[in-house]
Amino acid sequence: MLIEIPSLLTEDQAAAMLGRLQAARWIDGRVTAGYQAQRVKNNAQLAEDDPLGRELSDTVLRALERCDLFMSAALPLKVYPPMFNRYAEGQAFGTHVDTAVRRLPGTPVRVRSDLSATIFLSPPDGYDGGELVVEDSYGAHAVKLPPGHMVLYPGGSLHDVRPVTAGVRYGCFFWIQSMVRDDADRTILFDLDTNIQSLARAAPDRPEIVQLTGVYHNLLRRWAET
Ligand code: NI
Repeated sequence: MLIEIPSLLTEDQAAAMLGRLQAARWIDGRVTAGYQAQRVKNNAQLAEDDPLGRELSDTVLRALERCDLFMSAALPLKVYPPMFNRYAEGQAFGTHVDTAVRRLPGTPVRVRSDLSATIFLSPPDGYDGGELVVEDSYGAHAVKLPPGHMVLYPGGSLHDVRPVTAGVRYGCFFWIQSMVRDDADRTILFDLDTNIQSLARAAPDRPEIVQLTGVYHNLLRRWAET
């Protein structure tokens, strides 16, 4: 399932982040890529111990905690600290899959990449190309969103970032280990939750809402790892 989460960051937050990233110290993006991805990755990113990256990463983590749509769609157990990348003219990231399990540097903590996330930070008219393309069983989906908007997609999907042909594309990317590992199970829970909420707004007194909420939690209890 590919889900867009609009306005995870406000326009002001995204613009402030972009301004600080434009003055940041960038390193070769291949440092965090696995063997296959290294061969096709051509971008720059902030070092994982860069103080600016850590500060902006915390801002993103706080925004995620406040976002009901993210919580409902991802059912997060662990979030890998968000990182930041930059594609200048001519740069791209060819088709690859993300590493399945990542260790947090300097810690014994491992995060399984059930979901991958990208937050767009540059205005779409500020660069040409640079679409994130995610392949699933329904075909290839090209995504290019306004600043502060996020897309979530299954960590196991083939994806690429098309070449930037003019301008510069800044973004934030990270991975989520979900309480519900399987994408199809997580999709059922998301659909159920979305519809219960919609029903609760339209007809708050219907007794079925309590029953359906029970069904949701019983499924979550069956499937969740904590
Ligand atoms: Ni990737």
